[in-house]
Amino acid sequence: MSSININNKIIIPCESGDSILRSSLRNSIGIAYECNSGGCGACKVDLISGEVQNKYPDASSLTKRDVRKNRILACQNVPVGSIEINAEISGGSESYILPVKYNAKLISKEIISSDVVEFSFAIKSDVKYRPGQYFMLSICGLAERAYSVSSPDSEDGVIKFIIKKMDMGKVSSYLFDEINSGDVIGLDGPYGHAYLIENNCDVVCIAGGAGLSPIASIIRSLKKNGSTNKLHFFYGINFIEDLNIEYILRLIGDMSGSEYNFIPAITNDNENWSGEIGFIHQVVERCLPDFLNKEFYFCGPPVMTSAVQKMLMIEKSVPFERMHFDRFF
Ligand SMILES: Cc1cc2nc3c(=O)[nH]c(=O)nc-3n(C[C@H](O)[C@H](O)[C@H](O)COP(=O)(O)OP(=O)(O)OC[C@H]3O[C@@H](n4cnc5c(N)ncnc54)[C@H](O)[C@@H]3O)c2cc1C
Ligand code: FES
Repeated sequence: MSSININNKIIIPCESGDSILRSSLRNSIGIAYECNSGGCGACKVDLISGEVQNKYPDASSLTKRDVRKNRILACQNVPVGSIEINAEISGGSESYILPVKYNAKLISKEIISSDVVEFSFAIKSDVKYRPGQYFMLSICGLAERAYSVSSPDSEDGVIKFIIKKMDMGKVSSYLFDEINSGDVIGLDGPYGHAYLIENNCDVVCIAGGAGLSPIASIIRSLKKNGSTNKLHFFYGINFIEDLNIEYILRLIGDMSGSEYNFIPAITNDNENWSGEIGFIHQVVERCLPDFLNKEFYFCGPPVMTSAVQKMLMIEKSVPFERMHFDRFF
């Protein structure tokens, strides 16, 4: 078995095929990370000695300077034998629920719009995660991608993901066009830091496109746990046809005792639309009455999450620790 010596302080075992990041998290060592997909660059570590297999040599988050300095992405490199690294260990990155591998069987698909579907999988063992976290979904022999859970924190052996079909996308196309009920995929998780914080603050959820998935998990968990926190839910989509109002009303309906505001917005105007128009960060800035004592959850493409983050930090002085987000690289 391979092993990893971290900061010359601790040596951990590494399961066959596991990246440096996953081995660390499975052993309760919080190496800094965000996407687990090679996109953000948050997980850079220094390789001091030993050999690694790099699963994503073209990752754009690693610069030529990083390569010259023997810096590697912990989420994309798998130790071959024993290795030594120096890494930033961050208390916030440690997993409260250690990531575990599961087999999951497709049980149903619910169409939300022409290119967005909610997939439900059955898992035999008790699967644990916090609302808003993501799993790595693997299709045997094809590829592995990160997908945020859309189901509430515990739903008796069923886990759900809202997934957008990407043109020519390997995994999303497989899920839309080829997978059948009863087929089995691999899951590994939970991962991610954008999970629901339990306190009395208002909850502001901002979803862009498929960013609806972790937001659905948060809203369903609030409902299931009888939360009385006020909910402000902003949902940004491109076209009026992308809004499945029946699905959304089922999602937010019956917020047992809690007040809520739902504000959808489209970017492409339509004569049949009387609601908000514009990018979702502009709509939040315009429509949220105040930005105090609120926890902000936002997910979607990097361009959307960056715009929301910039608006909250620069225009509204929201402290960083009140922002919980995942960028869908
Ligand atoms: C933390 C995190 C959470 C996420 N959660 C979700 C979620 O809940 N729901 C969701 O839908 N997504 C989510 N994602 C995104 C997801 O992981 C995938 O990146 C996405 O589904 C695309 O994967 P794919 O294999 O289908 O596409 P890929 O094969 O990775 O392709 C990516 C893009 O490249 C283009 N491309 C690929 N091959 C070619 C080619 N030969 N020529 C031209 N263009 C090409 C495709 O059109 C596509 O747009 C998340 C990502 C992260 C990092
Ligand atoms: S966590 Fe490794 S690149 Fe994002």
